[in-house]
Amino acid sequence: MTEKFSKMQQQFLCCYPVNKMSWSSVKLPMDWDEQKALIAATCGHPLNERYPVRASYQEAFVKRLMQLLKDHEELHDDLFSSLTSQKCEQQCKDFAYKHYLLLQPDAHITLRESISFVNEGTTGLCTWEAALALADYLMQHSDVVKGKNIVELGAGTGLIGILLKLPALGFDAGQILLTDGSASCVQLMRDNVALNFPETPKEAIPQCAQLRWDEVKDFPWQQYAKTDLLLAADVIYDDSQFDALLDALDHLYTSRGNCLEMLLASTVRNVDTLHKFMEQLAKREYKVTPCANVSACVSHFCRDHTAAVQIISIKR
Ligand SMILES: C[S@@+](CC[C@H](N)C(=O)[O-])C[C@H]1O[C@@H](n2cnc3c(N)ncnc32)[C@H](O)[C@@H]1O
Repeated sequence: MTEKFSKMQQQFLCCYPVNKMSWSSVKLPMDWDEQKALIAATCGHPLNERYPVRASYQEAFVKRLMQLLKDHEELHDDLFSSLTSQKCEQQCKDFAYKHYLLLQPDAHITLRESISFVNEGTTGLCTWEAALALADYLMQHSDVVKGKNIVELGAGTGLIGILLKLPALGFDAGQILLTDGSASCVQLMRDNVALNFPETPKEAIPQCAQLRWDEVKDFPWQQYAKTDLLLAADVIYDDSQFDALLDALDHLYTSRGNCLEMLLASTVRNVDTLHKFMEQLAKREYKVTPCANVSACVSHFCRDHTAAVQIISIKR
């Protein structure tokens, strides 16, 4: 019976918008056993019991389910209890968890994230659509990371680095260094790395460090392996940061004799902003190649279909 609700389960655990969930898999009338099974697969899932998703999200989900059932069925007690279980505990908290279930192979990533888009002066305390799209792209093109030492810029919650080091996925990447300019993000990504690799030796997990793009020359690069691949997601939104980012790229490409590739994923919010960045790349003699589109329909990360994400490869 749980298999029947596997899509709902995957969507619930990563807080996919309630109104876009696969409600068509909930066939009415739904007897008590089925109601109980759906609640067990979602609110009662062991991951949610240990690391709960946002209380307001769980409430919205259960209310929608009650609405759906109310004219057909007597409601199971578990629906009412799941409405109240987290509310009191979580009321004042700014952070909650999301769980990304990767159905094939069987693996998951748990991230602690801010429940608001901007918190502690940064946008990086929650995971953005572009990071999910880049994660999907890498799942489908694992050859681009095989054996490579990777640095992620503006890594936020740390999703990509955690994904690339999950043993079940066999990416076989080299050293992974997750960086961000915000000290709060670096602390959060460290916590998320520790959460996902509780017993893995330090050498086999992503490393985390604070790196502001305008301080790239002062970073202790000698402590890390030589970078082969740069990754970044959703860092092209503020044109006041373009010069700092481009200067950082110049420094990194030059220090690697231009034997460096960057994969950059950007949500297309403002075409002019992206265009301006592309022009700056061309002026600095970078070659940009668009990467294959990754359909949200086959996403491992329940991506929202509304946001278009562009992924490009940058070489020089
Ligand atoms: C929209 S968030 C994206 C976070 C993550 N990559 C994702 O897609 O979920 C932008 C990230 O870039 C980081 N950032 C912005 N300006 C930066 C700078 N000048 N130096 C380093 N990091 C910066 C922010 O701290 C934030 O974590």
